[in-house]
Amino acid sequence: LYGPGRPNSKGANLNIRSQYQPLMDAMATHMDTVYEARPLLAFDVASDPAQTHEVTAPYDRRQRVGTVLWTTKTQAEQALDAAWAAFPRWEATPVGERADILRRFADLMEANMAELMALCSREGGKLLTDGVDEIREAVDFCRYYAVRAEELFAEPTRLPGPTGESNELMMGGKGVFAAISPWNFPVAIFCGQMVATAVAGNTVLAKPAEQTSIVAHRVVELLREAGMPRDVVQLLPGDGPTVGSVLTSDPRVTGVVFTGGTDTAQVINRALANRENAALPTLVAETGGMNAMIVDSTALPEQVVADVIHSAFQSAGQRCSALRVLYLQDDVADRVIQILEGAMAELHVGDPRDLGTDVGPVIDEDARRGLQAHIDRLKGEGRLLAETRLDPAHTAEGTFIAPSAFQIDGIDALEREQFGPVLHIVRYKAQDLDRVIESINGRGYGLTFGVHSRNESFAEEIAQKIRVGNVYVNRNIIGAVVGVQPFGGQGFSGTGPKAGGPHYLLRFATEKTVTINT
Ligand code: SER
Repeated sequence: LYGPGRPNSKGANLNIRSQYQPLMDAMATHMDTVYEARPLLAFDVASDPAQTHEVTAPYDRRQRVGTVLWTTKTQAEQALDAAWAAFPRWEATPVGERADILRRFADLMEANMAELMALCSREGGKLLTDGVDEIREAVDFCRYYAVRAEELFAEPTRLPGPTGESNELMMGGKGVFAAISPWNFPVAIFCGQMVATAVAGNTVLAKPAEQTSIVAHRVVELLREAGMPRDVVQLLPGDGPTVGSVLTSDPRVTGVVFTGGTDTAQVINRALANRENAALPTLVAETGGMNAMIVDSTALPEQVVADVIHSAFQSAGQRCSALRVLYLQDDVADRVIQILEGAMAELHVGDPRDLGTDVGPVIDEDARRGLQAHIDRLKGEGRLLAETRLDPAHTAEGTFIAPSAFQIDGIDALEREQFGPVLHIVRYKAQDLDRVIESINGRGYGLTFGVHSRNESFAEEIAQKIRVGNVYVNRNIIGAVVGVQPFGGQGFSGTGPKAGGPHYLLRFATEKTVTINT
């Protein structure tokens, strides 16, 4: 929608290369910089070698990206003091001024797109095309929430009615929010959480994922340059047990916005609930998925395969929206698997900075090891259907996983979400469709879902019955667009409201009814 199309590994590369060349040249100037990231708090923080962590690139662990100074427990507590103190002043700041900061921030991210993309690639292993989408999404979040905040909060809503009094509904912030974000969208989700909570009138303590603190640091520098006061949004890089535990145990934290694993969301939920003397908290969580796609016998196999490759393997499958379980109706299964096998053999796994690469690395060695154990187990059971070849010349120094597809009996065979380029395929018979839908719903996750069918009423019926946040018909199931495809799930997949949707900001606001007897 917003940028040049995704390069195809075959054929179109020359043209794509010329479109991307200026951006690539600009990125090249940021590829060797060694960064020093640190907490960006309301007060200055001294360097401390004991708290400094090295960051290397996931595609080549010999390449340094920089260092990150982690936040100590004491600093996190002091940051919370500052956020608490700043809240009344920030809440009283006119919403137009708050929204203007978001707009200037969006402009600055666009102006610094090449550097942010270079960091997404060096720290997060993102492909160039994923990097473009990432920054675009962050910019869209800022501009969309700026408009929504003004629509929702600029003026009180007058509520004329039978009481004969003046009734007005006024909106305000809730207090201090902790924003805990993931490494897989280190700019987009990181920004989305931060700007939504702040523009609604809250002060924010942002804790980025350990793996992607450097790009988060650069983003918050830009946010400050855009005019965000130092005590309104603070950056607390660090580990979960140190920083996360301060943010979820202190009664002054009014709410948490979190994106990450379902297990961690449950830990946060319990920690918030266990606080003594704390007001009832707000938890907005966007978590994992066990996302399925159903393909019936009328579907077009070539289109199915193109959309499956995109949904399961783009971003190395490290999207919460990614396809994990593909249900193929028996009549079409052999044909789809045959084309899929061919398409997977053509994928190129390697350096994300190379335009010919289709699949980059997974985020770190822990992720690689976990995925490999799952793959080895399924291979041991003789379930492998297709696999991309890894060329050691391109993958030896990084944390890479070859895309693979396995036959399984049903979604219940999967114990947990596998956050990487692993696709599971289930064959089903037409008469078993209701049971298939029941088992997908029964698994308890509910994030994304796809249907491929040329039978409109079939697609509509399934879309109706399936309990998920985002249903996609006859297309891929990733890459929700801010403002038009609000994103987020239900059940184990999240609390809602949806990010990039019209109701998101309301969850971060208080409502006050003022009645005057006139
Ligand atoms: N918003 C992202 C997507 O739709 C989620 O990870 O792919």
